[in-house]
Amino acid sequence: MTYQEAYQKVEQAGQAHVLQFYDSLTETEKQELLQQIAETDFTVTAAFGQAQKPVEKGVITPLTAMQIPEIEAGRAAFEQKGVEALRAGKVGAVLLAGGMGTRLGADGPKGIYDIGLTKPVYIFECLLHNLLDVVKQADVWIHLFIMTSDKNHDTTVRFLKEHDYFGYREDYIAFFKQEMVPATDYQGRAYMESPSRISTSPNGNGGWYASMKSAGVLDIVHRAGIEWLNVFAVDNVLQRIADPCFVGAVLSTGCACGAKVVKKNAPDEKVGVMCLEDGRPGIVEYYELTEELMNTKDEAGEPAYNFGVILNYLFREKDLEEMLGKEMPLHVVEKKIPYMDETGKLVQPESPNGYKYETLALDMVHKTKSCVPYEVVREKEFAPIKNKEGVDSVETARALLQKNGAIL
Ligand code: UTP
Repeated sequence: MTYQEAYQKVEQAGQAHVLQFYDSLTETEKQELLQQIAETDFTVTAAFGQAQKPVEKGVITPLTAMQIPEIEAGRAAFEQKGVEALRAGKVGAVLLAGGMGTRLGADGPKGIYDIGLTKPVYIFECLLHNLLDVVKQADVWIHLFIMTSDKNHDTTVRFLKEHDYFGYREDYIAFFKQEMVPATDYQGRAYMESPSRISTSPNGNGGWYASMKSAGVLDIVHRAGIEWLNVFAVDNVLQRIADPCFVGAVLSTGCACGAKVVKKNAPDEKVGVMCLEDGRPGIVEYYELTEELMNTKDEAGEPAYNFGVILNYLFREKDLEEMLGKEMPLHVVEKKIPYMDETGKLVQPESPNGYKYETLALDMVHKTKSCVPYEVVREKEFAPIKNKEGVDSVETARALLQKNGAIL
């Protein structure tokens, strides 16, 4: 991208200041800045004013989940159907590993975090071993696509190669990078990290399919004849991936999508719950769940909004293709953003100082025609590592892994 093209792009977005130090930069720095401008989507910053506004929701009604007794009764048939789909190469897996993991506060990608006690046990290792269980069960290799971001791509790729993909087949793994967006102050003005570097962050986990397309990895999906994509988060070390029973159950219902869910452990637990929104599947975030919705009961007298999503969805690939042109809600999130002050020093703020702009995978569910919430046993399948200590932390995940027989 030339200087002129870069100027036009940032000027149109009201961000021309990102080029203010251009003349003082070295040739290499100039090229790096122009490259960053070419790769960054500046249009999102116009949404800064949305941050304080409540998200507008449609009419919320309950969506019945497929619960454990029903799943257990149908397990043999579901598993058979799932294994058949896997053997036919119809299912691929997508690992979302582009996040910054700021709450965990580790240097580097979350997946390379070592949660072992007596030996190294990496988060990526747990996930790949879980997927290898299915490879063994179905006796077929499953394509795994790993989303990274500019911030962690090289480290992630290097780490997995150095560890020989923890036994996974290299030719069944493809990496792709998600897009970056500027992080701004409260007025929507992009922060700089240095005179030649704009503060950017990954654009959320909702752009994964679009990023697969722009990175060219959809060609693999199409060549392999994959019809379903199981997308999942990096932080749940008990995650069952391409789970034959889940795949078979979703296929049996004829739904366009499946979402693994857990029964909430308290009415005010901080998880998004499945629902129908204006008759389509959707998710109400915990902070959007009104008292009235929280107290609504189903016919069995159970809370009607009781199943929380765990970021493990099965989407029909052809539906994702149709979704591409449709706009996704942009979430404007208050965060701590490292920035360069007037003296040129990089500051790591102690408290939030601006916004990041993200689209979320959960909003893709609302774009599908139908979705089956599929209940899993929390203690067996849900051990997220979000924080260093306390709730959803390394400690809680270790305890759950050990309960499931893992040696750490
Ligand atoms: P989280 O919402 O926990 O975000 O991501 P995070 O960035 O990892 O962590 P914090 O909030 O900074 O502590 C849920 C999943 O989505 C992925 C994460 O890697 C994780 O698997 N993700 C998130 C992306 O792949 N890209 C993003 O831009 C954001």
